[in-house]
Amino acid sequence: MLERLSNKRIVLGVTGSIAAYKAGEVIRRLRDHGAEVRVVMTRAATEFVTPLTFQALSGHPVHEHLLDTRAEAGMGHIQLARWADAILIAPASADFLARLRIGRADDLLMAVCLASNVPLAVAPAMNHQMWSDPATEDNIRVLRSRGVLIFGPDSGEQACGETGAGRMQEPTQLVGQLAEVFETGALAGLHVLVTAGPTQEAIDPVRYLSNHSSGKMGYAVAAAAFEAGARVTLVSGPVCLPVPDGVQHIPVLSAQDMYDAVMPRMEDVDIYIGAAAVADYRPELVASSKIKKDEETLSLTLVRNPDILASVKRRYPASFCVGFAAETDNLEHHARSKLHDKGVDMIAANWVGVNAGDGGFGSDENAIRLVWREGELELAMAPKTKLARELIGHIAQRYQVRHKSALTGDNVLRFTKQPDN
Ligand code: PMT
Repeated sequence: MLERLSNKRIVLGVTGSIAAYKAGEVIRRLRDHGAEVRVVMTRAATEFVTPLTFQALSGHPVHEHLLDTRAEAGMGHIQLARWADAILIAPASADFLARLRIGRADDLLMAVCLASNVPLAVAPAMNHQMWSDPATEDNIRVLRSRGVLIFGPDSGEQACGETGAGRMQEPTQLVGQLAEVFETGALAGLHVLVTAGPTQEAIDPVRYLSNHSSGKMGYAVAAAAFEAGARVTLVSGPVCLPVPDGVQHIPVLSAQDMYDAVMPRMEDVDIYIGAAAVADYRPELVASSKIKKDEETLSLTLVRNPDILASVKRRYPASFCVGFAAETDNLEHHARSKLHDKGVDMIAANWVGVNAGDGGFGSDENAIRLVWREGELELAMAPKTKLARELIGHIAQRYQVRHKSALTGDNVLRFTKQPDN
């Protein structure tokens, strides 16, 4: 369950309570499980613990002020709200809960909470009389009805010397509950390499052969793999898309460049996903200066490019390899042939051209016929971002199946690098 925190971005809000010192342990545990943490402190919280402590533990400057020109230029409240995958307020004082209930935005933490639509969890910490006061009970009821997650509080001896409910839950418990808000950590601990976009095959210094791939599908797959907890390398042909957060980006131009970028990086890759539309052929000769239109016709001799997907599987048979197939006819037949001919684990086949409907090249949507040796599945037309998450879910599932059968000896795999031929 805790692997779900891998690659997740957590805003940790700390409010004024004696339990503020425990927030340090929360930061450490979140980071231990692969989460990135940004701390926002209220003014009252800084009376209990210095921002420097949390800066050292989180590895990032602590955010304190709503109207801070430096912070607004860097990571202001809107950016922090957008950056976060979840917000945890620990400890959450009675005053903070009351202000959250009425939606104040007069300090940075309140403004971040208000500006965000990601899961918000609070870990109340207060004297037991304050916790059982009807005003606090009412605030909690309203917050819960709005979807705010209430973690705890625990009962026991309190800092004031009294006993009762109101102690902040222990950091391990808080972190465990926070992990549950994320749906997947299915690829945590794995290295996924994704190729995306078109390749450009030079004819002369000003011209090239290419195709209509925009990179949208491959970039969505890379983002979804990162979301699922993987370390992601994205080897991409030339596209006009922002690199997904957290993903290592290797830009390339030609199919040969892509091959050269992929092969040495495969050493520690667990899952390879080839979403790039790689040119099968390139001009045999690249003219050193611009070709002039002296003749009525012009012939180019094309030679085969290396097949990256097939080479990866041949050289690294233990890696789980997923190819795409872009087809204008006989989708299923071509998908099965590619599965067999390239010896890969899965093919995500999609229509391009007139049969693609709302999907295919350049579009924001797509549909996939997912094919593997023992089965197949239709992933219906959906935004590429959503489709990519579904695809990653199925890849993770098949990866686990293959991994388990390899460990139990059901499937004989060679876990060593094979010579490239
Ligand atoms: O980028 P978008 O605009 O979002 O469009 C998405 C897409 C249609 C490009 C994408 O979903 C897709 O289908 N990508 C693969 C396109 C392709 O090249 O298909 P193919 O059937 O020609 O190749 C089969 C597989 O072999 C692919 O995984 C491809 O990356 C790989 N290949 C092909 C040739 C080659 N020389 N080396 C390869 O590795």
